[in-house]
Amino acid sequence: MINLSGKTALVTGGGAGMGRAIVEAFGMYGVKVAVAEIDAARAETLRHTLEGEGIDALVEVTDVRDKTQVAKLAAKIEAKFGGLDILVNNVGDFMGIVGPFATSTEEQWDTLYQVNLKQIFVVTHAMLPLMRKSGNGGSIINVSSIEAFRGIPGGVIYGAFKAGITGFTQSLAVELGPEGIRVNTIAPETTDTEQVQVTKWTNPKYMDHTQRWIPLGRFGVPQDAAGCAVFLASDLSAWVTGTTIHMDGGALAAAGWYRTPEGQWTNMPVIADKGLIF
Ligand SMILES: NC(=O)c1ccc[n+]([C@@H]2O[C@H](COP(=O)([O-])OP(=O)(O)OC[C@H]3O[C@@H](n4cnc5c(N)ncnc54)[C@H](O)[C@@H]3O)[C@@H](O)[C@H]2O)c1
Repeated sequence: MINLSGKTALVTGGGAGMGRAIVEAFGMYGVKVAVAEIDAARAETLRHTLEGEGIDALVEVTDVRDKTQVAKLAAKIEAKFGGLDILVNNVGDFMGIVGPFATSTEEQWDTLYQVNLKQIFVVTHAMLPLMRKSGNGGSIINVSSIEAFRGIPGGVIYGAFKAGITGFTQSLAVELGPEGIRVNTIAPETTDTEQVQVTKWTNPKYMDHTQRWIPLGRFGVPQDAAGCAVFLASDLSAWVTGTTIHMDGGALAAAGWYRTPEGQWTNMPVIADKGLIF
């Protein structure tokens, strides 16, 4: 049922982290992959790697917040691949903006809106005609965050736009269902990537403790996102639309429950200071 061979995909932000893992997994399954990546050096490295692996790819330096650049990319995808079957809206970033809502600025709201929600509208709007053209239905996969499903103090605006992705996913899934285009979301918990360098940021004295924060005993790795994306892109999820995979090791299910060093579960505070330093 994982028959993705010959399909075409666009992965935004495919030059690092989860996006890159998704690109490589798609390549392994014979998908022809287009990548929109803002960072020229990352794009170049990825281009080389995919060439070396014999993967049919189109890696373009593109800022997905820019409508004109996205339109150019759509034209290039159409010229090279003819259409599109899979769209992964992976780009998103908290932009290092952390602090109380009360002191946040309008400029920060706009910055976070552009990179976490508006660009998903821009890219999906531009790519939908290509998905319709391919005529085989299709799969749109949005990458949100676990923070869309719980409160994140210091990240109110980021959390609000990520929550917006849930609404976008549900309504678009209903609109596009009759055409066989499915729309779903992946919502990751803390995952070790270039953006969230969790190994580096974890206070060394709490390294052991981190294994007890999450029921499955570890933070995420980019390949966790790749597994979810392959599932959502393929016929394994043929009857799944309008919903979210919480890619979180059980963190949301546990909510505030953690294990003590003795292995007991507690919903009481278990460390005295900041677990993450960044
Ligand atoms: N890593 C985590 O812990 C975590 C947790 C929850 C949600 N997320 C979400 O997962 C997604 C991927 O995160 P990641 O940690 O892999 O990110 P990352 O920053 O490691 O990789 C993202 C890639 O996107 C590129 N990019 C950024 N802005 C772009 C733009 N405007 N146009 C084109 N490319 C752009 C970056 O250059 C980078 O290569 C994001 O939507 C993020 O919000 C991440």
